[in-house]
Amino acid sequence: MYTLEEIDSVIEKGLGTLNFNMAPSQLYRPIEYMISIGGKRLRPRLCLLTYNLFSDKIDRSILYPALALEIFHGFTLIHDDIMDNAELRRGQPTVYKKWNSNIAILSGDVMSIKSYELMADCPSAVLPQVLALFTKTAAQVCEGQQYDMNYEALPFITMEDYIKMIGLKTAVLLACSSKIGALIAGTDEKTGNTLYDFGFDLGIAFQIQDDYLDTFGQSNVFGKMIGGDILNNKKTWLLVQCFKVAQGKDAEELNYLLSLNDGNADKKIKSMQALYEKLGIREMAEQTIRDYHRRAMERIGALNFSPAQYGQIEAFARRLLNRNK
Ligand code: IPE
Ligand code: IPE
Ligand code: MG
Ligand code: MG
Ligand code: MG
Repeated sequence: MYTLEEIDSVIEKGLGTLNFNMAPSQLYRPIEYMISIGGKRLRPRLCLLTYNLFSDKIDRSILYPALALEIFHGFTLIHDDIMDNAELRRGQPTVYKKWNSNIAILSGDVMSIKSYELMADCPSAVLPQVLALFTKTAAQVCEGQQYDMNYEALPFITMEDYIKMIGLKTAVLLACSSKIGALIAGTDEKTGNTLYDFGFDLGIAFQIQDDYLDTFGQSNVFGKMIGGDILNNKKTWLLVQCFKVAQGKDAEELNYLLSLNDGNADKKIKSMQALYEKLGIREMAEQTIRDYHRRAMERIGALNFSPAQYGQIEAFARRLLNRNK
């Protein structure tokens, strides 16, 4: 089995072999930019990792599908930053800020198309299954992104609404990454599905943590602006939980803060952070992230994995849990 570091190095080398130095440069330069400014590469790492639990032979029939997941993810981020008015990503200007929205839309589109080209390099025996899963997942991500925007405009959503939305916009891609590694390795259906469910639960924990870091992280580490979700009245885990917990004066304060506009950006962010702290929302988020993480690991516990296989997955999941970016 490869170490996580070796898997990461395979991914970086693989990304380096993709050639986006093509014409017209206005279309392809943003793709090179998006890849070059970094990112955690979680989706290809998870895909290669689940594959590598069963096979040590890493050739392009697994490498390219793994890279496809990162390219697809890059496309969703470029478009997401337009939708979220975000100016900073991975510590650098977002594509639509550095160029413009039309360029960001079209570069994102071609990234999405290229991701299919890469995914199609998987072994022909599993191609129909892999493409069906990838296509379904891609549509689900768009559905989740639409719910995310719909909810921005709503005064209130339930925790159920929230979990459904993040399941679609974030968790299904991690689940899909996990399962595609297993499919290409040729595992049985039950193992593939369990790895899917593992990736899904981990993805839920991951998005709650993303919401947490957007409010309580450090911009220079997280690479995004702190408080962006607060300014957009995003229905994050923190806000949805706050709706449940805040009573009386705190509920009034919450509604007042939600009504503040960008003219009061600093005040809105600081007061919302203070309200979350006061009501214990911060600790509740930390606990909920740990709960989903545990649930994900329990799924793996139900598989007949060797200690080495379990340890590899456990190390990956632990890294996610302890992240600050
Ligand atoms: C950001 O994903 C979008 C979410 C689903 C929260 P990542 O946190 O994986 O972003 P990078 O690729 O590491 O920049
Ligand atoms: C993004 O959720 C999910 C997708 C890109 C599909 P966020 O909007 O929270 O992601 P960040 O925080 O901008 O990375
Ligand atoms: Mg978003
Ligand atoms: Mg965003
Ligand atoms: Mg976010």
